[in-house]
Amino acid sequence: MSDITLHLGQTLWFSSDPMIDGPNAAHHDSRGGIAVQDGHVLARGTADDLRREYPHAVVEDHGQALILPGFIDAHVHYPQTAMIASWGKRLIDWLNTYTFPEELRFGDPDYAAEIAGRYLDLALSHGTTTMCSYCTIHPESVDAYFTAAAARGMRVLGGKTCMDRNAPDGLLDTAQSAYDDSKALLERWHGQGRASYVITPRFSPTSTPEQLSSLGALWAEHPDCLMQTHLSEQTDEIAWVRGLYPEARDYLDTYEAYGLLGANGLYGHAIHLEPRERDRLREVGAALVHCPTSNTFIGSGLFDMAGLVAEGQRVGLATDTGGGSSFSMLRTMAAAYEIAQLRGVALHPSALLWLATEGSARALRIADRVGTLAPGSEADFIILDLGSTPAISQRSSRAADIWEAVFPTIMMGDDRAVSGVWLMGERLG
Ligand code: GUN
Ligand code: ZN
Repeated sequence: MSDITLHLGQTLWFSSDPMIDGPNAAHHDSRGGIAVQDGHVLARGTADDLRREYPHAVVEDHGQALILPGFIDAHVHYPQTAMIASWGKRLIDWLNTYTFPEELRFGDPDYAAEIAGRYLDLALSHGTTTMCSYCTIHPESVDAYFTAAAARGMRVLGGKTCMDRNAPDGLLDTAQSAYDDSKALLERWHGQGRASYVITPRFSPTSTPEQLSSLGALWAEHPDCLMQTHLSEQTDEIAWVRGLYPEARDYLDTYEAYGLLGANGLYGHAIHLEPRERDRLREVGAALVHCPTSNTFIGSGLFDMAGLVAEGQRVGLATDTGGGSSFSMLRTMAAAYEIAQLRGVALHPSALLWLATEGSARALRIADRVGTLAPGSEADFIILDLGSTPAISQRSSRAADIWEAVFPTIMMGDDRAVSGVWLMGERLG
């Protein structure tokens, strides 16, 4: 047993889902804290109680700053780091013009290692301690990602992106090689340290039915793995899917027909859903991943957060780097707020913070380990400075409660608000 450390500051935690139960699901201590031992959270409570309980603990006092679980980004493309913020295209042109040429470079293990390290360091500096990433079709890109994450001690999820049509030659695998490579990578990485492998067909337009079917078979052999893909992001894309799969009832059916619909499925975007698709996603308990900065940047549409949550869908939040225009989950929460406003709904700060932590962790089925600071969980946490810029501090200084204090940071904050990051109880940097 190693020493106990107390981290004291403001704390916020949730006894249930504030998307459903409202802000009363949140508990705030203006002088609270966590006790950390052996990389895990030992206890959570008021600062006074923790000091009394653990009188010999080392104390790190973070003052008025907010102690939060590290952010969980439920859908990213780390290989798109270097081409984030590419101008002027909608989804299909954006993929062909910017994304595929960049992804072609990841057959080079040195380049993959350079970008994986760069991406993870950027994510950490923005307070994101766990993410679920698409890699490229190259197994080297997966090895680079998990190797870089292990070197930093991060809990990460990801997988080889599979495509066997409608992409440049150098980015195509086959139904068989997608199965073989994904299986070998899964066996190499799934459950290794803090890594989880995710079966990853990119989306129906870049896979043949044979490839979707072979990945459906792989998922059936490894049902504990997550499976991630894209669903109903843009109307042009949906029309393309209709042409490619004339027998399918809708976009989701192109996955359902090949064994790619299930409770451990992650469906990115999910904007333009048909009633049947919503029903099936809810029935199976799949997770939808909202990527708001991407949806505005690529011009995809307005995700129906309130309607989907009200009907019982599980929703996570994500940057979708680099279709998304930011590495920051703060900026991503702000964009989720703005999109909901455009649909006539004001998301409460408690709901936004929940989505970026426990909500995304639940979508990724890792909320028993990260995304909360409940006793027993892994001690991945951040310290959020609620006055990180003059513009933010002049607003938060007149806050009447914690929500008014934190909302300016959600709306206007960036990596400057993240004053420290801890992984398994160890401070970075
Ligand atoms: N649909 C298929 N691939 C992608 C991608 O890389 N980014 C986004 N935003 N949508 C996709
Ligand atoms: Zn994506």
